[in-house]
Amino acid sequence: MLRDIILKNRSYRGFNEERNVTTDELFSLVDDARVTGSAANRQPLKYYISNDSMEVEEILKHTKWAGALPELHLPKPGTHPKAFVIMLQDKDIQPNTQAVLIDVGIAAQTILLSATEKGLGGLMIRNFGPEPLSALLGLPDNLTPVMVIALGEPAETVTLVDIPKDGNINYYRDENGTHFVPKRRLEDIVLLKK
Ligand SMILES: Cc1cc2nc3c(=O)[nH]c(=O)nc-3n(C[C@H](O)[C@H](O)[C@H](O)COP(=O)(O)O)c2cc1C
Repeated sequence: MLRDIILKNRSYRGFNEERNVTTDELFSLVDDARVTGSAANRQPLKYYISNDSMEVEEILKHTKWAGALPELHLPKPGTHPKAFVIMLQDKDIQPNTQAVLIDVGIAAQTILLSATEKGLGGLMIRNFGPEPLSALLGLPDNLTPVMVIALGEPAETVTLVDIPKDGNINYYRDENGTHFVPKRRLEDIVLLKK
């Protein structure tokens, strides 16, 4: 059921390094993103896929994980992602980054939902250095990274909780490493006619 996949599709920051992500799986994820909606149907996104272990480690160095839990230095050694999909804005098709970002969100969520259905999971990462990453990947000038998606088989437990009374939205972990994500309550986000 879609609801089950949506709930299972959390931000994972630790993976089973024994489970590879195949090139066929990466193509399948991008193929699902390919057929999603796009403003004015311009389709300005391109996708750099990588499951080469050395390249994955190099890409990882350019990303920042779990800004709210800096002391944990995630992902921990032995739980690194096995692949990346790097979403690229083709500036020859759409030079305005603002105009591309909604497409990015739709496509990124589609990739993660599709990954979840395949027994995988991942993390959307916007906290990365686009210039060093472009240099690492040897990207042409017209292609700019706009989103990095880490992928692998999740090796951690993520639990959703209601947002506490003080309104703190920070995610946190307990002594067992379970990751808790506060979400606003349904009644606090829906408006009805008075
Ligand atoms: C657009 C976007 C950018 C994000 N960028 C990062 C990031 O750079 N680093 C990171 O660790 N998590 C990143 N996240 C993950 C969020 O922290 C995560 O979605 C949030 O804590 C809620 O957890 P959940 O995805 O399991 O619901 C990003 C999420 C989104 C949607």
